[in-house]
Amino acid sequence: MGTLPLMTGEHEQVHGGTRQPGRDATHWDERYAATDRLWSAEPNATVESVIAELEPGTALDLGAGEGRHAVWLARRGWRVTAVDFSATGIARGREAAPDAEVAWVVDDVRTWVPTTTYDLVLVAYLHLADDVLKRFADWIAPGGRLVVVGHALRNLTDGVGGPQDPRLLHTEDQLRTAAEGLSIERLEEVFRPTPEGTAIDLLLVARRA
Ligand SMILES: C[S@@+](CC[C@H](N)C(=O)[O-])C[C@H]1O[C@@H](n2cnc3c(N)ncnc32)[C@H](O)[C@@H]1O
Repeated sequence: MGTLPLMTGEHEQVHGGTRQPGRDATHWDERYAATDRLWSAEPNATVESVIAELEPGTALDLGAGEGRHAVWLARRGWRVTAVDFSATGIARGREAAPDAEVAWVVDDVRTWVPTTTYDLVLVAYLHLADDVLKRFADWIAPGGRLVVVGHALRNLTDGVGGPQDPRLLHTEDQLRTAAEGLSIERLEEVFRPTPEGTAIDLLLVARRA
């Protein structure tokens, strides 16, 4: 969505206020198949501003969707692995940027295990149970970073859009726990303008010594 979403956005899931976020691959496949592009082609503004400062290396994009971050990273010189359990989302990323140096993987990040560690692990708008999030920190190489950006729990009451199930939303405590063993560089709310109003996200940037 860059600064603002294209047609839909990070806040798309609650239009009408009735739809709860899907948790299986079939649900996401159907959502991607129902539109030409669910998310914008540009990276999220927070992801862009945080990562633009980093020296390129190896990157893992978890819940990569249609690949907007994976492709953007690859074009900046990162060697990217993009994982998502939606084959439709991954196919769209691959087709949109066939020249991009991205290893596309269709798999479930709750069970997938990498064979290496990464200089960057990116988790953008992927909302899963706490114990899953905690696994990701182990996949960071020395000197590497975990970057998480997603809807804050406070968005339910004070913001707009995003999943409406509180169990799926980020809190500072949850992200602090996920970053155990890493040093936290940033843990803060981010206010994101959308056509419907301001959405409240949480950002975590944590580094392995
Ligand atoms: C809101 S979208 C965000 C996509 C992308 N990170 C972005 O910011 O454009 C969430 C994505 O997470 C994926 N996802 C959800 N649960 C997953 C899981 N357990 N394993 C792999 N992908 C998952 C969905 O298929 C969907 O593409």
